[in-house]
Amino acid sequence: MSKTAELIIDGKSYTLPLVVGTENEVGIDIAELLEKTGAVTLDLGYKNTGATKSAITFLDGDKGILRYRGYSIEELAEKSNFLEVAYLLIFGELPTQQQYNTFSHDIKTHTLVHEDVKKILDGFPSTAHPMGVLASLFCSQTAFYPESLDPNRAVDGVYLSIVRSMAKMPTFAAWAYKNAVGHPVNYPDNSLDYCSRFLKMMFALPAEQYEVDPVVASALDKLLILHADHEQNCSTSTVRIVGSSKASIYSSLSAGINALWGPLHGGANQEVIVMLEQIKKDGGDTEKWINKAKDKNDPFRLMGFGHRVYKNFDPRAKIIKKAADDVLGKLGINDPVLEIAQKLEEAALKDPYFVERKLYPNVDFYSGIIYRALGLPTDLFTVMFAMGRLPGWIAQWKEMRENKEPIGRPRQIYTGATQRAYVPVGTRG
Ligand code: ACO
Repeated sequence: MSKTAELIIDGKSYTLPLVVGTENEVGIDIAELLEKTGAVTLDLGYKNTGATKSAITFLDGDKGILRYRGYSIEELAEKSNFLEVAYLLIFGELPTQQQYNTFSHDIKTHTLVHEDVKKILDGFPSTAHPMGVLASLFCSQTAFYPESLDPNRAVDGVYLSIVRSMAKMPTFAAWAYKNAVGHPVNYPDNSLDYCSRFLKMMFALPAEQYEVDPVVASALDKLLILHADHEQNCSTSTVRIVGSSKASIYSSLSAGINALWGPLHGGANQEVIVMLEQIKKDGGDTEKWINKAKDKNDPFRLMGFGHRVYKNFDPRAKIIKKAADDVLGKLGINDPVLEIAQKLEEAALKDPYFVERKLYPNVDFYSGIIYRALGLPTDLFTVMFAMGRLPGWIAQWKEMRENKEPIGRPRQIYTGATQRAYVPVGTRG
């Protein structure tokens, strides 16, 4: 393949270099486009724009491939655990036993949050969505660890911020839930593994004994692995762009949480259950709802279907679907909503509207069903997504920093009024 691309503007030809990745993805390097031609590119939603070179996650949307640092998501979900995957994403290689023990020990010793965080939590009404609470508590760490504001701090300072972020996330997530239900918060139990510790903080009550169900903890661990990174999506790009201004790691991650919240991104897992419940309440006529999704005059979209990058089955959805069957079977749950989900999936996969547009079930379609089976309230589904995505965001933030990427500052094509003179208010028509 030629190593350059030819661009002709107004009859004048420009040569642009090509960049080829390790999986043979091709990009046209336009770093000097504006300087050489006076023109910028316009790409709403960044559908064709590579924002960075990254060695973290490879995704082939047509073939349905997802790999973290070269390892397939299928293999990691089957053989690894969330903390090991987090290490792999953040530091680039699977840890040795000693590296794993150190990382896991360091995380355990930072699970407590400052007692004053409780005062912040108390300021939120119980109606506050846990995603808003989570983002705020995360950002508040800039106040408790002001040294994190220094972008040039020592490398071990960055390690400490990474460990603190991973360690405190389950505590914040569980506390956001406790605030919503009006229960006292639980402190982390460091004798437990990452997911069990979170589950105990979520569900234990002072008045009752609580034993973590290993089936639930292991299903949650798998879900977190599946959500751990997904290259340059909306929230990850947000983390990188906020971090590129040298804002602190906590504010960058908090921005990622906010971006994830939207129903077109991580918020879709909550919306899937809301939709399935609505269909059930309406009598379970899936064909009617499929037709609504196809009707261009109806704003309804089939939540959990379609993906910006996957134009094939989302590989994570395949693993989750199987995990959903396993978990529901093991826990003896017979969820009528699952039947509706299956009918919708079957109908959509045969329907020309969905087939032509390559709209397949995405990761969110089944994750909500498992979260429900694990006893998690709907409002907390996106929080679970954020907990899973955290190591990915950290890895991307760290890579952006180590690559010394410049501040993210897109251009625009201005379409507003041209210069005009100010008219005093009394004389405006
Ligand atoms: N239901 C019905 N029609 C859909 C759906 C859907 N879920 N998704 C896309 N379409 C249609 C669009 O109307 C459009 O049709 P047209 O070509 O006739 O105008 C076509 O498919 C392409 O859709 P776009 O919105 O242009 O695709 P895009 O790549 O921009 O959007 C997105 C992807 C946002 C995920 C979209 O498919 C969607 O809204 N899905 C539902 C929400 C959802 O599940 N989000 C989770 C995404 S996964 C994640 O964030 C982890």
